[in-house]
Amino acid sequence: MTNEKPMRVLSGIQPTGGLHLGNLLGAILRWVRMQDEAECLFFLADLHALTVDVEPSELHSNVREMAAALIASGIDPGKSTLFAQSAVPAHAELAWLLQCTARIGWLNRMTQFKEKSGKNREGASVGLYTYPVLQAADILLYQATHVPVGEDQKQHVELTRDIAMKFNNDFDVELFVPPEPFIGGGTAARVMSLRDGNSKMSKSDPSDMSRINLTDSDDSIAQKIRKAKTDPEPLPVEPSALEGRPEARNLVGIYAAVTGESIEQVLSRFAGQGFGAFKPAVADALVALLAPIRDRLEELRHDAAELDRILEAGAARASEIGTPVLARAKAAVGLTR
Ligand code: TRP
Repeated sequence: MTNEKPMRVLSGIQPTGGLHLGNLLGAILRWVRMQDEAECLFFLADLHALTVDVEPSELHSNVREMAAALIASGIDPGKSTLFAQSAVPAHAELAWLLQCTARIGWLNRMTQFKEKSGKNREGASVGLYTYPVLQAADILLYQATHVPVGEDQKQHVELTRDIAMKFNNDFDVELFVPPEPFIGGGTAARVMSLRDGNSKMSKSDPSDMSRINLTDSDDSIAQKIRKAKTDPEPLPVEPSALEGRPEARNLVGIYAAVTGESIEQVLSRFAGQGFGAFKPAVADALVALLAPIRDRLEELRHDAAELDRILEAGAARASEIGTPVLARAKAAVGLTR
Protein backbone atom coordinates (compact mmCIF):
# COMPACT_ATOMS: atom_id res chain seq x y z
CA MET A 1 0.00 0.00 0.00
CA THR A 2 1.49 3.30 -1.02
CA ASN A 3 -0.43 5.62 1.28
CA GLU A 4 0.27 3.59 4.38
CA LYS A 5 1.81 5.61 7.23
CA PRO A 6 5.35 4.54 8.07
CA MET A 7 5.96 2.81 11.36
CA ARG A 8 6.88 5.18 14.18
CA VAL A 9 7.86 3.76 17.55
CA LEU A 10 7.53 5.70 20.79
CA SER A 11 8.12 4.70 24.38
CA GLY A 12 8.84 6.37 27.68
CA ILE A 13 10.36 5.41 30.99
CA GLN A 14 10.10 7.16 34.30
CA PRO A 15 13.37 8.66 35.52
CA THR A 16 13.34 6.91 38.86
CA GLY A 17 17.12 6.44 38.87
CA GLY A 18 18.97 3.13 39.13
CA LEU A 19 18.21 0.92 36.15
CA HIS A 20 18.42 -2.84 36.67
CA LEU A 21 18.51 -6.01 34.62
CA GLY A 22 14.70 -6.13 34.51
CA ASN A 23 14.53 -2.74 32.76
CA LEU A 24 17.33 -3.75 30.41
CA LEU A 25 15.97 -7.14 29.29
CA GLY A 26 12.31 -6.20 29.65
CA ALA A 27 12.37 -2.92 27.75
CA ILE A 28 15.57 -1.20 26.80
CA LEU A 29 17.31 -3.85 24.70
CA ARG A 30 14.09 -4.23 22.78
CA TRP A 31 14.13 -0.48 22.12
CA VAL A 32 17.74 -0.78 21.01
CA ARG A 33 16.84 -3.47 18.48
CA MET A 34 13.93 -1.43 17.18
CA GLN A 35 16.16 1.46 16.22
CA ASP A 36 17.10 -0.40 13.06
CA GLU A 37 13.52 -1.28 12.20
CA ALA A 38 11.74 2.07 12.49
CA GLU A 39 11.89 5.72 13.35
CA CYS A 40 12.06 5.81 17.15
CA LEU A 41 11.35 8.35 19.86
CA PHE A 42 12.28 7.57 23.46
CA PHE A 43 11.77 9.90 26.37
CA LEU A 44 12.25 10.26 30.10
CA ALA A 45 8.79 10.72 31.60
CA ASP A 46 9.64 13.40 34.16
CA LEU A 47 6.12 14.87 34.16
CA HIS A 48 4.77 11.45 35.04
CA ALA A 49 7.31 11.23 37.85
CA LEU A 50 5.60 14.21 39.52
CA THR A 51 2.39 12.24 40.08
CA VAL A 52 3.91 10.80 43.25
CA ASP A 53 6.26 12.47 45.73
CA VAL A 54 9.62 13.26 44.20
CA GLU A 55 12.73 14.85 45.58
CA PRO A 56 13.12 18.09 43.56
CA SER A 57 16.89 18.14 43.98
CA GLU A 58 17.12 14.71 42.35
CA LEU A 59 14.63 14.85 39.49
CA HIS A 60 16.77 16.40 36.78
CA SER A 61 19.86 14.45 37.74
CA ASN A 62 17.77 11.28 37.52
CA VAL A 63 16.73 12.32 34.01
CA ARG A 64 20.39 12.69 33.02
CA GLU A 65 21.38 9.47 34.75
CA MET A 66 18.64 7.58 32.94
CA ALA A 67 19.58 9.15 29.62
CA ALA A 68 23.17 8.07 30.22
CA ALA A 69 22.01 4.53 31.03
CA LEU A 70 19.92 4.36 27.85
CA ILE A 71 22.81 5.57 25.71
CA ALA A 72 25.23 3.20 27.44
CA SER A 73 22.80 0.35 26.70
CA GLY A 74 22.79 1.15 23.00
CA ILE A 75 20.17 3.85 22.38
CA ASP A 76 21.93 5.94 19.77
CA PRO A 77 20.92 9.62 19.90
CA GLY A 78 22.04 9.88 16.29
CA LYS A 79 19.41 7.32 15.25
CA SER A 80 16.67 7.82 17.81
CA THR A 81 15.15 10.95 19.28
CA LEU A 82 15.95 10.93 23.00
CA PHE A 83 14.53 13.67 25.20
CA ALA A 84 12.89 14.68 28.46
CA GLN A 85 9.10 14.92 28.36
CA SER A 86 9.03 18.26 30.21
CA ALA A 87 11.31 19.85 27.61
CA VAL A 88 8.51 19.59 25.04
CA PRO A 89 5.61 21.66 26.44
CA ALA A 90 3.24 20.26 23.82
CA HIS A 91 2.86 17.08 25.94
CA ALA A 92 1.21 18.99 28.77
CA GLU A 93 -0.86 21.14 26.42
CA LEU A 94 -2.19 18.21 24.46
CA ALA A 95 -2.86 16.34 27.70
CA TRP A 96 -5.31 19.09 28.68
CA LEU A 97 -7.23 18.80 25.42
CA LEU A 98 -7.36 15.03 25.82
CA GLN A 99 -8.58 15.29 29.42
CA CYS A 100 -11.65 16.88 27.92
CA THR A 101 -12.09 13.92 25.57
CA ALA A 102 -11.40 11.09 28.01
CA ARG A 103 -14.32 10.07 30.22
CA ILE A 104 -14.22 9.64 33.99
CA GLY A 105 -15.68 6.16 33.54
CA TRP A 106 -12.72 5.18 31.38
CA LEU A 107 -10.17 6.35 33.94
CA ASN A 108 -12.07 4.63 36.72
CA ARG A 109 -11.24 1.31 35.06
CA MET A 110 -7.46 1.85 35.09
CA THR A 111 -5.93 -0.85 37.25
CA GLN A 112 -2.59 0.92 37.71
CA PHE A 113 -4.28 3.86 39.42
CA LYS A 114 -6.09 1.47 41.74
CA GLU A 115 -2.84 -0.27 42.58
CA LYS A 116 -0.77 2.85 43.02
CA SER A 117 -3.34 4.77 45.03
CA GLY A 118 -4.20 1.71 47.15
CA LYS A 119 -6.18 2.46 50.25
CA ASN A 120 -5.29 6.13 50.11
CA ARG A 121 -7.35 6.94 47.04
CA GLU A 122 -8.72 10.21 48.38
CA GLY A 123 -5.20 11.35 49.18
CA ALA A 124 -3.73 10.49 45.78
CA SER A 125 -2.82 13.37 43.46
CA VAL A 126 -5.18 14.25 40.62
CA GLY A 127 -2.12 13.83 38.40
CA LEU A 128 -1.88 10.17 39.38
CA TYR A 129 -5.50 9.77 38.31
CA THR A 130 -5.05 11.48 34.95
CA TYR A 131 -1.62 9.88 34.40
CA PRO A 132 -2.96 7.69 31.56
CA VAL A 133 -4.27 10.76 29.70
CA LEU A 134 -0.82 12.36 29.78
CA GLN A 135 0.50 9.05 28.49
CA ALA A 136 -2.05 9.21 25.67
CA ALA A 137 -0.81 12.72 24.84
CA ASP A 138 2.80 11.42 24.75
CA ILE A 139 1.80 8.86 22.16
CA LEU A 140 -0.71 10.80 20.06
CA LEU A 141 1.44 13.93 19.84
CA TYR A 142 3.86 12.04 17.62
CA GLN A 143 1.28 9.96 15.79
CA ALA A 144 3.20 6.93 17.01
CA THR A 145 2.04 3.71 15.39
CA HIS A 146 3.73 1.29 17.80
CA VAL A 147 4.27 1.58 21.52
CA PRO A 148 6.51 -1.06 23.07
CA VAL A 149 5.38 -1.49 26.66
CA GLY A 150 5.18 -4.20 29.27
CA GLU A 151 2.02 -6.04 30.23
CA ASP A 152 1.23 -3.49 32.96
CA GLN A 153 0.99 -0.64 30.45
CA LYS A 154 -1.19 -2.32 27.83
CA GLN A 155 -4.35 -0.92 29.37
CA HIS A 156 -2.99 2.60 28.97
CA VAL A 157 -2.29 1.99 25.28
CA GLU A 158 -5.82 0.65 24.84
CA LEU A 159 -7.14 3.80 26.52
CA THR A 160 -5.01 5.85 24.12
CA ARG A 161 -6.74 4.13 21.21
CA ASP A 162 -10.14 4.98 22.67
CA ILE A 163 -9.18 8.62 23.23
CA ALA A 164 -7.76 8.89 19.70
CA MET A 165 -10.90 7.48 18.11
CA LYS A 166 -13.28 9.59 20.21
CA PHE A 167 -11.35 12.78 19.46
CA ASN A 168 -11.24 12.07 15.73
CA ASN A 169 -14.91 11.25 15.79
CA ASP A 170 -16.10 14.15 17.99
CA PHE A 171 -14.25 16.74 15.93
CA ASP A 172 -14.59 15.03 12.60
CA VAL A 173 -10.86 14.90 11.88
CA GLU A 174 -8.40 12.22 10.92
CA LEU A 175 -5.68 13.45 13.21
CA PHE A 176 -4.78 10.91 15.84
CA VAL A 177 -3.44 7.49 14.96
CA PRO A 178 -4.73 4.73 17.26
CA PRO A 179 -1.49 3.01 18.34
CA GLU A 180 -0.72 -0.68 18.60
CA PRO A 181 0.68 -1.85 21.93
CA PHE A 182 3.73 -3.40 20.35
CA ILE A 183 5.61 -4.94 17.49
CA GLY A 184 9.26 -5.57 16.63
CA GLY A 185 12.49 -5.77 18.57
CA GLY A 186 12.18 -9.46 19.34
CA THR A 187 10.79 -10.77 22.58
CA ALA A 188 11.40 -9.20 25.95
CA ALA A 189 12.17 -11.21 29.03
CA ARG A 190 10.14 -10.81 32.17
CA VAL A 191 12.82 -10.76 34.82
CA MET A 192 11.90 -11.76 38.34
CA SER A 193 13.54 -11.09 41.70
CA LEU A 194 16.58 -13.26 42.48
CA ARG A 195 15.12 -13.87 45.94
CA ASP A 196 11.54 -14.67 44.93
CA GLY A 197 10.69 -16.03 41.50
CA ASN A 198 7.10 -14.87 41.85
CA SER A 199 7.73 -11.14 42.14
CA LYS A 200 9.17 -8.83 39.51
CA MET A 201 12.75 -7.59 39.78
CA SER A 202 12.25 -4.11 41.12
CA LYS A 203 14.09 -1.02 42.19
CA SER A 204 11.85 -0.74 45.24
CA ASP A 205 12.72 -4.18 46.67
CA PRO A 206 14.50 -3.48 49.98
CA SER A 207 17.02 -6.26 49.30
CA ASP A 208 19.73 -5.26 46.84
CA MET A 209 20.46 -9.00 46.45
CA SER A 210 17.11 -9.32 44.66
CA ARG A 211 18.29 -7.39 41.61
CA ILE A 212 21.26 -6.78 39.34
CA ASN A 213 21.89 -3.09 38.85
CA LEU A 214 23.50 -1.69 35.72
CA THR A 215 26.20 -0.27 38.00
CA ASP A 216 27.05 -3.57 39.77
CA SER A 217 30.67 -4.75 39.63
CA ASP A 218 31.54 -8.11 38.07
CA ASP A 219 32.09 -9.57 41.54
CA SER A 220 28.79 -8.33 42.80
CA ILE A 221 26.97 -9.79 39.77
CA ALA A 222 28.65 -13.16 40.35
CA GLN A 223 27.84 -13.06 44.06
CA LYS A 224 24.18 -12.19 43.51
CA ILE A 225 23.77 -15.06 41.04
CA ARG A 226 25.61 -17.47 43.37
CA LYS A 227 23.25 -16.54 46.20
CA ALA A 228 20.13 -16.46 44.04
CA LYS A 229 17.31 -18.62 45.35
CA THR A 230 16.92 -21.92 43.48
CA ASP A 231 15.61 -25.41 44.10
CA PRO A 232 17.57 -28.66 44.53
CA GLU A 233 16.45 -30.27 41.25
CA PRO A 234 18.64 -30.43 38.16
CA LEU A 235 17.53 -28.53 35.06
CA PRO A 236 14.92 -30.37 32.98
CA VAL A 237 14.92 -31.22 29.29
CA GLU A 238 11.48 -29.77 28.57
CA PRO A 239 10.61 -26.08 29.08
CA SER A 240 7.19 -27.16 30.39
CA ALA A 241 8.95 -28.85 33.34
CA LEU A 242 9.98 -25.38 34.55
CA GLU A 243 6.34 -24.75 35.51
CA GLY A 244 6.09 -24.53 39.26
CA ARG A 245 9.82 -23.79 39.53
CA PRO A 246 9.74 -19.98 39.31
CA GLU A 247 13.34 -19.39 40.40
CA ALA A 248 14.73 -21.98 37.97
CA ARG A 249 12.59 -20.58 35.21
CA ASN A 250 13.82 -17.06 35.96
CA LEU A 251 17.51 -17.98 35.75
CA VAL A 252 16.97 -19.95 32.53
CA GLY A 253 14.99 -17.01 31.12
CA ILE A 254 17.71 -14.55 32.05
CA TYR A 255 20.40 -16.73 30.51
CA ALA A 256 18.39 -17.16 27.31
CA ALA A 257 17.65 -13.43 27.03
CA VAL A 258 21.25 -12.46 27.66
CA THR A 259 22.75 -14.92 25.18
CA GLY A 260 19.97 -14.58 22.62
CA GLU A 261 19.24 -18.31 22.73
CA SER A 262 15.83 -19.93 23.10
CA ILE A 263 14.77 -21.65 26.33
CA GLU A 264 14.90 -24.96 24.41
CA GLN A 265 18.49 -24.36 23.34
CA VAL A 266 19.57 -23.46 26.86
CA LEU A 267 17.90 -26.54 28.33
CA SER A 268 19.30 -28.86 25.70
CA ARG A 269 22.75 -27.77 26.82
CA PHE A 270 22.20 -27.75 30.59
CA ALA A 271 19.55 -30.45 31.12
CA GLY A 272 20.50 -32.80 33.95
CA GLN A 273 22.93 -30.33 35.48
CA GLY A 274 22.37 -28.63 38.81
CA PHE A 275 22.64 -24.95 39.66
CA GLY A 276 26.23 -25.44 40.81
CA ALA A 277 27.09 -25.77 37.14
CA PHE A 278 24.46 -23.47 35.67
CA LYS A 279 24.90 -20.44 37.91
CA PRO A 280 28.51 -19.69 36.90
CA ALA A 281 27.43 -19.80 33.26
CA VAL A 282 24.65 -17.32 34.02
CA ALA A 283 27.06 -15.04 35.87
CA ASP A 284 29.60 -15.14 33.03
CA ALA A 285 26.97 -14.33 30.44
CA LEU A 286 25.68 -11.44 32.54
CA VAL A 287 29.13 -10.00 33.06
CA ALA A 288 29.82 -10.20 29.33
CA LEU A 289 26.64 -8.20 28.64
CA LEU A 290 26.78 -5.75 31.52
CA ALA A 291 30.46 -4.87 31.94
CA PRO A 292 30.71 -2.80 28.73
CA ILE A 293 27.40 -1.06 29.52
CA ARG A 294 28.60 -0.24 33.03
CA ASP A 295 31.90 1.11 31.74
CA ARG A 296 30.22 3.36 29.15
CA LEU A 297 27.73 4.53 31.77
CA GLU A 298 30.59 5.40 34.09
CA GLU A 299 32.11 7.65 31.41
CA LEU A 300 28.87 9.29 30.33
CA ARG A 301 27.34 10.03 33.70
CA HIS A 302 30.09 12.49 34.61
CA ASP A 303 29.48 14.63 31.56
CA ALA A 304 26.30 16.45 32.55
CA ALA A 305 26.81 19.15 29.93
CA GLU A 306 27.07 16.63 27.11
CA LEU A 307 23.98 14.78 28.35
CA ASP A 308 22.01 18.02 28.52
CA ARG A 309 23.13 18.86 25.00
CA ILE A 310 21.94 15.48 23.69
CA LEU A 311 18.60 15.88 25.48
CA GLU A 312 18.14 19.41 24.14
CA ALA A 313 18.81 18.30 20.58
CA GLY A 314 16.32 15.46 21.09
CA ALA A 315 13.69 17.86 22.44
CA ALA A 316 14.13 20.14 19.44
CA ARG A 317 13.60 17.23 17.08
CA ALA A 318 10.59 15.99 19.03
CA SER A 319 9.06 19.49 18.98
CA GLU A 320 9.37 19.60 15.22
CA ILE A 321 7.19 16.52 14.96
CA GLY A 322 4.81 17.29 17.79
CA THR A 323 4.12 21.00 17.39
CA PRO A 324 2.18 20.73 14.12
CA VAL A 325 0.06 17.91 15.55
CA LEU A 326 -0.78 20.02 18.61
CA ALA A 327 -1.66 22.92 16.31
CA ARG A 328 -4.07 20.71 14.39
CA ALA A 329 -5.62 19.50 17.66
CA LYS A 330 -6.12 23.09 18.84
CA ALA A 331 -7.71 23.98 15.53
CA ALA A 332 -9.94 20.89 15.66
CA VAL A 333 -11.44 21.90 19.01
CA GLY A 334 -11.85 25.49 17.83
CA LEU A 335 -9.17 27.25 19.87
CA THR A 336 -7.49 28.48 16.72
CA ARG A 337 -8.37 28.41 13.07
N1 TRP B 1 3.74 4.74 32.05
C1 TRP B 1 4.94 4.18 31.48
C2 TRP B 1 5.59 3.25 32.51
O1 TRP B 1 5.46 3.47 33.68
C3 TRP B 1 5.90 5.24 31.07
C4 TRP B 1 5.33 6.06 29.97
C5 TRP B 1 4.90 7.35 30.06
C6 TRP B 1 5.10 5.63 28.63
N2 TRP B 1 4.45 7.76 28.86
C7 TRP B 1 4.55 6.75 27.96
C8 TRP B 1 5.31 4.43 27.94
C9 TRP B 1 4.17 6.68 26.63
C10 TRP B 1 4.94 4.36 26.60
C11 TRP B 1 4.37 5.48 25.94
O2 TRP B 1 6.27 2.33 32.12
